[in-house]
Amino acid sequence: MTSSRRKFVKDVSIATAGFTMIDPARLMVEPGKFPGGSSADKKVRLGFIGVGGRGRGHLGLALRRKDVDVVAICDIDAVSLKESNELLKNSGKTMPKVFTGDNYAYRKLLELKDLDGVIIATPWEWHCPMILDSLAAGLKYVATEVVLGLTLEEHWDVVKAAEKNKANVMMLENVCYRRDVMAALNMVRQGLFGEIIHLQGGYQHNLRGVKFDNGSNPANSDVEFGPKADGEARWRTFHSVHRNGDLYPTHGVGPIAMMVDINRGNRFLSLCSFSSKARGLHDYIVQKGGANHPNAKVEFKLGDVVTTSIKCANGETMLLQHDTDLPRPYSLGFRVQGTKGLWMDVNNSVYIDGSGKFDEWTPEQPWFDKYDHPLWARWSKETEGAGHGGMDFFVLHAFVESIKRGVATPQDVYDAAAWSAITPLSEKSIELGNQTVDFPDFTGGQWMYRKNDFALTDEF
Ligand SMILES: NC(=O)c1ccc[n+]([C@@H]2O[C@H](COP(=O)([O-])OP(=O)(O)OC[C@H]3O[C@@H](n4cnc5c(N)ncnc54)[C@H](O)[C@@H]3O)[C@@H](O)[C@H]2O)c1
Repeated sequence: MTSSRRKFVKDVSIATAGFTMIDPARLMVEPGKFPGGSSADKKVRLGFIGVGGRGRGHLGLALRRKDVDVVAICDIDAVSLKESNELLKNSGKTMPKVFTGDNYAYRKLLELKDLDGVIIATPWEWHCPMILDSLAAGLKYVATEVVLGLTLEEHWDVVKAAEKNKANVMMLENVCYRRDVMAALNMVRQGLFGEIIHLQGGYQHNLRGVKFDNGSNPANSDVEFGPKADGEARWRTFHSVHRNGDLYPTHGVGPIAMMVDINRGNRFLSLCSFSSKARGLHDYIVQKGGANHPNAKVEFKLGDVVTTSIKCANGETMLLQHDTDLPRPYSLGFRVQGTKGLWMDVNNSVYIDGSGKFDEWTPEQPWFDKYDHPLWARWSKETEGAGHGGMDFFVLHAFVESIKRGVATPQDVYDAAAWSAITPLSEKSIELGNQTVDFPDFTGGQWMYRKNDFALTDEF
């Protein structure tokens, strides 16, 4: 181990030292008790449910790994299966079993006896039923794309099922592994910002060309959604028609939750959301398809900008913004602020009290070069070609390495539930006229004893 690595591990161990009194009944994993034993050399046998845009991203990365066998895939769409087939053929690996035909074909995949884990990358409404069925089938490792579920009840159902089966449910929150975010996490853990006071994040991404599409045209060229459309426009847009809340909170909240030990010494206490009026999607339809297009009559419930405030048990506040329907450049809007300074990603700047000129920002890059996280320092070659600037490598890597070692995944079911429950809670807050609503404690009090062990080393 290099001396800087040793220092990193020591620093974060001190920063996260605390109670260790974890109720074993609630542990998600019993090391060494998994089928095939646990070993860093183990070959992991994965099944994929949903091989659309995102599922194929994970599939492609899995096929690059020597330690993964893709043994089964399932999808209901011929195009998704055909494109996956190309990926599989080009990989030169053994072709997997294919399950298709109807919405529940995945249950046949789950009957396979030798699966170590599944990766679910289907529309949001399918995540909870697919996770529950995977757990019922006896799987000990289940990865799902964001978000975990739709309703609060679904979140509870998944948490309880994971606990009952002593299984790991990992939500593949890739932004926790973004290089700048990890460097900022490193800076938080090393005390550069002082005591953390306030954090911001969000999902600010013009998705109009994703929410509307026509299968035969490239993105940004049509105003169809539902069966006539392609990709996410087939399903995601319905959530904007029928729901008003922060529909996609996890990319913004996951990284900042890890910085202040949510569910690991801290927790979300309450939340309050506000929604603006909804204009962006309607304007887009009229602009591209004309005022007489049938979709110009659709009333979208989702406000263009939804703003959510969260209060944490240790006194920090968080601000999240969901902003997907207006023309704007992409930004997750991170801000990490403490008693000694702050990082704001929108202006790529850091301010540390006493380290530069009073009242003037300094560029973030020299800081992030200095505090580059050991995971990136070690694996940056492997991230080449992986989606979203390389960070997608790490979520799959973490899932696979956890299976190989028979240990808990670094993002667990409590993280998934707390981050993703922001959606139904924000819907409720807005529905109640912006009332502050209480956050459930999915850990059942264990947040007081659990330690933050996310990304403490350069392994996974
Ligand atoms: N983390 C990220 O950066 C990121 C990026 C994109 C999408 N996502 C998430 O990934 C998930 C999938 O999104 P996507 O962009 O791939 O959508 P997509 O529409 O491109 O793909 C979804 C796939 O699921 C399949 N499917 C639907 N119902 C099914 C069923 N019952 N059984 C089997 N297959 C079924 C569809 O046929 C399709 O191939 C969503 O949760 C989305 O939010 C995450």
